[in-house]
Amino acid sequence: MEKLLHGKVCIVTGAAQGIGKAIVERFAADGGIVYAFDRQTGVMEQWAKDCSERYDVRIIPVCCDITDSTGVKNVLMSIHKQEGKIDVLVNNAGVVFNRKIGMIIREETELMFRVNVIAVLELMQLVARFMARNKRGTIVNIASVTAVLGSSGQVAYSATKGAIISLTKSAAKELAPQGIRVNAVAPGIVETERFAELYESSGDKIDERINRIALGRLGTPEDVANACSFLASERASYISGQILGVDGCASI
Ligand SMILES: NC(=O)c1ccc[n+]([C@@H]2O[C@H](COP(=O)([O-])OP(=O)(O)OC[C@H]3O[C@@H](n4cnc5c(N)ncnc54)[C@H](O)[C@@H]3O)[C@@H](O)[C@H]2O)c1
Repeated sequence: MEKLLHGKVCIVTGAAQGIGKAIVERFAADGGIVYAFDRQTGVMEQWAKDCSERYDVRIIPVCCDITDSTGVKNVLMSIHKQEGKIDVLVNNAGVVFNRKIGMIIREETELMFRVNVIAVLELMQLVARFMARNKRGTIVNIASVTAVLGSSGQVAYSATKGAIISLTKSAAKELAPQGIRVNAVAPGIVETERFAELYESSGDKIDERINRIALGRLGTPEDVANACSFLASERASYISGQILGVDGCASI
């Protein structure tokens, strides 16, 4: 049976660790050619090489800051020139600063909006032009359950993820005539490096949080990656404008 993303040219942002890294590996296992974007690619080189060999596909680490629109445009043009197409974009890179309302710092909020929202819009804009030429393509944005449920201490961060939900739905309508599907995945709490750091420093009672998850466990990066692979694949060819919760039923 043909693999889910066989021969698809995929771009995954925020690929050096956590959820992004799991998405790269899932896509590679599913036969995709993966351009793995991150600010820090040094940590990725050996892993990308090993992973490429394991799955017999190409994984290409690309060092870029997604808020540098000129740099991103140049990289995308060179990928398109090299491959002749771009099939899949996963907007995963994100930053988070947790602060109660009274403690919110403008610079942190601006950075979150630049990385989590404006860079996502610009990447969609650039990639959609290439996808439109082939009349096909698929974009998966990473939102968060906090955008729907709300979360104390995440007022500014959750607003960036709420924006992702809105822009996903509007972009899906606008880009559908060009054969481009746009969906989002909204993870619950996922056990990543960042999650561990945040909860160690905040002293949050993790057992209480797990008790509020109906399926009784935290999410794994692989849970999110599996949903991204499905949405990026032809199996989801009639699905666009949707927000897929990957949260262990935390939102009900
Ligand atoms: N971990 C969770 O519990 C959780 C829950 C819901 C949503 N999310 C979302 O999932 C995504 C991934 O989360 P994670 O926990 O794996 O995060 P993470 O912090 O572990 O990884 C994020 C990656 O993005 C990269 N990055 C950040 N800013 C960048 C920039 N300007 N340019 C290029 N790369 C940049 C970082 O270098 C890092 O490798 C984020 O969008 C996050 O908001 C995470």
